[in-house]
Amino acid sequence: MANIIILGSQWGDEGKGKIVDLFSERFDIVARYQGGHNAGHTVFIGLKKFILKLIPSGILRPGKKAVIGNGLVLDPAALLDEIDALEAAGVDVTTNLAISDRAHVLFPQHRMMERLSEGRAGRISIGTTSRGIGPCYEDKIARRGIRVAELLDRDAFRAHYDSLMEEKHAIARTFSIDEEDDDRGIRDRYEAMAERIRPMVCDTALLLNNAIRDGKRVLFEGAQGTMLDIDHGTYPFVTSSSASAGGACTGTGVAPTRIGGVIGVSKAYITRVGGGPFPTEAHGEEGELIRRKGSEFGAVTGRPRRCGWFDAPLLRYTAAINGFDSVVVTKLDVLDDFDEIPVCVGYRVDGRVLDGMPARVSVIEKVEPVYERLPGWKTSTFGVSSYDELPARAKDYLAFLERHTGVEAGAVSTGPERTQTMVRTGSRLESLLR
Ligand code: IMP
Repeated sequence: MANIIILGSQWGDEGKGKIVDLFSERFDIVARYQGGHNAGHTVFIGLKKFILKLIPSGILRPGKKAVIGNGLVLDPAALLDEIDALEAAGVDVTTNLAISDRAHVLFPQHRMMERLSEGRAGRISIGTTSRGIGPCYEDKIARRGIRVAELLDRDAFRAHYDSLMEEKHAIARTFSIDEEDDDRGIRDRYEAMAERIRPMVCDTALLLNNAIRDGKRVLFEGAQGTMLDIDHGTYPFVTSSSASAGGACTGTGVAPTRIGGVIGVSKAYITRVGGGPFPTEAHGEEGELIRRKGSEFGAVTGRPRRCGWFDAPLLRYTAAINGFDSVVVTKLDVLDDFDEIPVCVGYRVDGRVLDGMPARVSVIEKVEPVYERLPGWKTSTFGVSSYDELPARAKDYLAFLERHTGVEAGAVSTGPERTQTMVRTGSRLESLLR
């Protein structure tokens, strides 16, 4: 009975939330390991649409436990909004959610610091979600952050908070962007919110390790995608956490020896939000067609996503970084209308075909994708729920992706509903889920 990691193999928004929601039926616990409310997982159950930002989508399955691991940065206001919305829809959150006492607390002042780094002349603008994620992780790494356990200890919290905010305003004044946040009011609000989250806070590493020892199954849920990982992504156009598979261990306190498999999620094409290099970006009419058909607008920010063609070298790279056992290919139906579908099979820079992903953004920006063009299937696959019923050319497309990435397409999805994802019989994925 394997514990598995599910994560994005591209630049995020691959449809992980939907896949985690579907597979969580076979697990006891779903644990998030990094990021914050910059993530947005959209899950449909019947006619109800849920956008989950912090809470793992396993919460939507009655009786399953959801864990917010130590690797996250937590805005308690965003968390409580999400809890209230879910509870109003009849989901029992408070009894099933566990929050790590070691997760870091995100404050409005982190957003002020983000405006400083994103807006200042001469700085590279990353095109962040403006949620304060980066500055909160900065405090964590600089060892001056406030963790959830400290938020719950009023005296310790007050002293630490006051000195941290004094420092933030000193920096902001230096750059003339000080916004005179109501520090005192924010502190009072956080103290009040601490009381609401207190019953859910615990040592989640202990909880997870005890559960695994007792034979329970854990599904680790990544946010963002591997190409946004702080180390392995297109730095500096990345998020500030370890979105790749390694982050599941550091972000929850569960050892690699307890993990039985890693599943990547990939769109049948590719998207990116925010700035940064994107070798297979489709500009003009074709990009617009993908965006419209795929409703490619950010779940958190509403920003239009940049759209492009499937990038096999990128997936080969993320498969290596994460050790994918299998890949779930989502949104196949978005490609239904194309006469021809280009797939990038290699990167060429200055006439040379590359072996791997360049470290430098300036080199990735120079990449000329080597495309092969596959015939489209020109028939609707929307909602098809059996692999055998896919048109032959759609199956050929999937087989082509498998050949050029070296990883099986263990499942395919053709729509947002739980019934519209098919796990292939005999796949490695099927055996991992068993
Ligand atoms: P941050 O995570 O807000 O610091 O943003 C850093 C980069 O990651 C920006 O390019 C964002 O658009 C991107 N990003 C952050 N979260 C997500 C996500 O959930 N999906 C897609 N892109 C994301």
